[in-house]
Formats: sequence, structure tokens, C-alpha cells
Amino acid sequence: MSLMNEKHYELRRQKLLNFIEEGVVILASSPPKTRSNDTEYPYRQNSDFYYMCGFQEDNALLVLVKTKELSKIVLFVEPYNEEHALWNGSRLGIERAKERFCMDEVYDIHGFSIVIKELLRDHVALYIDLFDESEWITQAKKTAKELRETRGVKRHIKAIYDVTHLIRTLRLIKSDEEITEIKNAINITALAHHEAMKRCRSGLYEYELQAYMSYVFQSHGAQAEAYGAIVAGGNNANTLHYIDNRDVLHEGDLVLIDAACEWELYASDITRTFPVNGKFTVAQKTVYEKVLDVQLKVIEAMKPGVKRDWLQQYSEELLCQALIDLGILSGKCKTLLEAKAHKKYAPHGIGHWMGLDVHDPCPYVDDEGESLCFTAGMVMTIEPGIYIRADDATVDEKYRGIGIRIEDDILITENGYENLSAMIVKTADDIEKMCKELV
Ligand code: GLY
Ligand code: MN
Ligand code: MN
Repeated sequence: MSLMNEKHYELRRQKLLNFIEEGVVILASSPPKTRSNDTEYPYRQNSDFYYMCGFQEDNALLVLVKTKELSKIVLFVEPYNEEHALWNGSRLGIERAKERFCMDEVYDIHGFSIVIKELLRDHVALYIDLFDESEWITQAKKTAKELRETRGVKRHIKAIYDVTHLIRTLRLIKSDEEITEIKNAINITALAHHEAMKRCRSGLYEYELQAYMSYVFQSHGAQAEAYGAIVAGGNNANTLHYIDNRDVLHEGDLVLIDAACEWELYASDITRTFPVNGKFTVAQKTVYEKVLDVQLKVIEAMKPGVKRDWLQQYSEELLCQALIDLGILSGKCKTLLEAKAHKKYAPHGIGHWMGLDVHDPCPYVDDEGESLCFTAGMVMTIEPGIYIRADDATVDEKYRGIGIRIEDDILITENGYENLSAMIVKTADDIEKMCKELV
């Protein structure tokens, strides 16, 4: 059961309407997605839509109407249908949606084209997801055009704005309940990473480790994985988006696991890298401790007022220095940074917002393009990595084929930060101990 109730959604809608002087907001649910022929992916609600109303069904629309005098909240849903209930499960339907959700009006979505005409009448501003090409948004624009062409209608839609930017600005700061949901996701993900460390042996396949983790996610009630799991043995870790997970795990290699579950639509996002046989080689441990040192230093610098861009810059300096210390790069750190030489071995950013989406699409900059400062309630991943390809003859042989990333989920607090995933082991010693534990 989600911790969010109608009060939370009402407050969010109020905050959204505070951004708007006058106008109509229309948000559509996600369409169901076909996997192949007549089979579908499990349904996942659109995060912006869900954030504003908590409704979990497809074929639904949320409309907020604001005039100088009043605001009105309207939900459009699929009516209850016996046939659908028999094959696909029961929908809430109009009456129960009225009882369950705090809406001023609930309508049958099949009457949308008629009702929206009345809702749009006399309004000059429309707020939608500008990139939503669903039939409903297309219908709303068509209706706005019809109204413009109708004699006697004096006021009509003159401007269409992107509403997602406003919603995603709200999504940046997580409420206590949202943080609890993220923690719930992380708690299960922690068990899954520890399970993988305990189960890992050479000769296992990457997908077997993935399966052990999926079992933990599902047996603890997580409804989904937050993203496609990466279980990358040895040199596979140097393919950043490796999701095949079909190779065998070899003695003496590391395995990088970037996998996490979603809880009540809130993501977690965790990476750990550990030895397949439970014991780091000297070379692996040397690189591992460099990455860990960078991660700890970056996390330690997080607090309200710090700019995200500064943190990125700082992490690049630390990674570049780590690569020099390892003898992988040579020269002055400043010169190497200017030439972006470190990007060959540390190509991705230090982290991203996380929440209803694993890569929460909240803004990184303000309206002037200035990097945002951290504020209490923001959640960001911190995930430095060093990747040395097996075929990179420019690097000492002992380091070739090593790919390491360490990723935690960090909450900005009033006074600094809280590492929400601090319970997942990550010092080399603790990892080796965990790998020895029996399941
Ligand atoms: N798991 C995706 C990422 O770390 O960004
Ligand atoms: Mn991440
Ligand atoms: Mn990740």
C-alpha cells in the first residue's frame, strides 16, 4: 500500500496550480505497451500523472482548471466493464473512482471530446506535456482549435505551455513519505546485493546472480525492478549499459552489479562491484579503493547550498587524480582535465536525481541556466566509476579488464546528507566478509 493519500495529492495539485495564473492543465496516463504481437509489458503508470493523482489505471486523464475565482479537478477514467474484468481484471470505474479519489468531477473517458470542450471554453492557456502525442492530448488541441474557430467564442487558447517542467520542479523535493518509499525500495535492494555477494561463485552465469536478486525483489513484494539489471563479469563491466547478463563468471574476475527494485513506483539505484571468488586481487583492490575514496569524498561534500555542477567538477578532479595515482594517466591534473583525458576511463556523470523515475527528470539548472543548489529533500545517486578495457594496451596489464562502479542513493538533509543505502557493504574488507557468508 502506498503511503501517499489524497491529502498528499491535493497538496501537490495546489502547488502546481500556484505556478499558474489561469488555464487548463491536461495530463494523460501512460499507454499500455506491446511487447510483441498481442502480449504486453506489465503496466507502469506515467510518473508525472501518478505524482499528481495516484491513479494507477491506463486510459485515464487528469484535468485541472484554474480561473481567477476557482479551481476544479477532473478525472476521466475507463468505466467498469464486465468483459474487461473477466479477461484483464476489474477497473475502478466511475463511481468508485469518485469515492476513492478527491476529485470535483469524474467522467467516462469516452466522453472526453465533449466534456473537454466545456472545460476549455473561455480559457487562454493550455498546459500539457508538449511531447505527449497521445490521442487524448491531440483531441484536446483539436478541441481548442475548434473553439477558436467557433463564432461568438471571445476567449480561446492562445498559448500552450509545458506542464512537465512545473511538475518536475515539484518532484525535486521529496516529502517524508516519498523518502520512506525510497527507503523501502533500498532496504529490499540491500538484501538482494548481499544475497548476490553470498551466492557468487566462479562458473555461475551472470543471469543466475540476476535471478537470485530478482527472487529477493519479488519475494519481498517489490512490484518491479527500477531499470534493467546490469550483472557484468570481468571486462563486461566496461560496457556501461551491459544488460545481456549471459556470460559465465570467471575465477579471478570482478563482477559489477547495478540492479535495484522499485517500491510503490519509487526507485532505488545501487551498484556494487566485488570479486567473483570473494577475494580481491592486489590490483583490483588498489583500483577499488581509489573509486571508493572518490565516492566517499564526493558524498562528504554534499549539503544544502552546494551546486550540482560544482560536485560534478569536484568528482572529475578526484577521478583524474586517482587515475594519475594509479599510473593510468600521466601529467598535470589540470592539463589532463582540460583535455578531458580522464573521460576515457571515467566517462559518465557523478550522479542523477532519483525518485519516481530512476533517472528522475527533474531540472538540473534554473531558468537562467545556472546549476541548482542542493536543498533538503533532494535525492541524488553518487556513482563514480573507473573502467579499463581488457584491450587497452596503454595501461599496465594488471589493471586491464577491470571495471568498477560504486553507487549509493543520497538524501540532502538540512545539515548535510544521509546515505540512504549505507547498509549495503562497500569497503573491500566488508565485501570479502559478506562474500564468505553462507546463504
Ligand atoms: N542504473 C542506472 C544508473 O546507474 O544510472
Ligand atoms: Mn544511477
Ligand atoms: Mn545504477
